[in-house]
Amino acid sequence: MSALSVVGGVKEYRRGSEVVHALRDVDVAVAPGELVALVGPSGSGKSTLLFALAGWETLDRGVVEVLGEAPGLQRWGDVGVVPQALGLIEDLTLRENAALPVRLAPRSAALDPREQGEATDELERLLDELHLGSVAHRRPFATSLGEQQRAAVARALVLQPSAVLADEPSTHQDHVRAGLVFSLLRSAAERGAAVVVATHDPSGYDYADRVVEMRDGAIVSVLA
Ligand SMILES: Nc1ncnc2c1ncn2[C@@H]1O[C@H](COP(=O)(O)OP(=O)(O)OP(=O)(O)O)[C@@H](O)[C@H]1O
Ligand SMILES: [Mg+2]
Repeated sequence: MSALSVVGGVKEYRRGSEVVHALRDVDVAVAPGELVALVGPSGSGKSTLLFALAGWETLDRGVVEVLGEAPGLQRWGDVGVVPQALGLIEDLTLRENAALPVRLAPRSAALDPREQGEATDELERLLDELHLGSVAHRRPFATSLGEQQRAAVARALVLQPSAVLADEPSTHQDHVRAGLVFSLLRSAAERGAAVVVATHDPSGYDYADRVVEMRDGAIVSVLA
């Protein structure tokens, strides 16, 4: 059974007479424990597909399922997203940003003290693995873009989600730190998460079970 799926996904953006075919009849399915790399030129539809899975964008046609339900209906913390635009809050430190999923859990998903302790341990482990220990007390404006991006990765993984959607999570990283990011995403898959990573970085392919190539809104090849 797949944890993430899109069947017959179509998305068009219209502005006046201009129509952009962002997704053309896209089918993709990701099983628990699987990491899929989504590749393709700029504008080929990678972020649109991730947005549809995250429930941030609705499709014109097609069926999207995330952990057995429509996107957006999952329990708090079940889906971790690394947005291409990061989305950090400037008034919070990197550590506080990465801790937001723990701190903001709604009452329906409140963590008991033991879970809270585990999440705090996980947060520190992630910050350490992402080489953020010495800068995590700083706010985003006082850190590098690469550090900010790694904080966004920690935020996505801190509650050990069952599905992970990462949009170009290594664009601001050097080769070594890109490896750290991909390794953590791979570890998430190893513990059973379904992971989709949009990337332009060929070094990420080594961590993937499948490489799905998009072009002009369509999937044009799948390499296993
Ligand atoms: N809100 C929008 N309104 C109009 N067009 C949009 C909108 N969002 C995306 N598009 C268009 O849809 C197409 C697919 O965009 P998308 O962001 O999915 O590409 P991408 O593969 O993620 O590119 P990149 O590698 O640059 O991040 C592009 O032509 C883009 O200009
Ligand atoms: Mg994109």
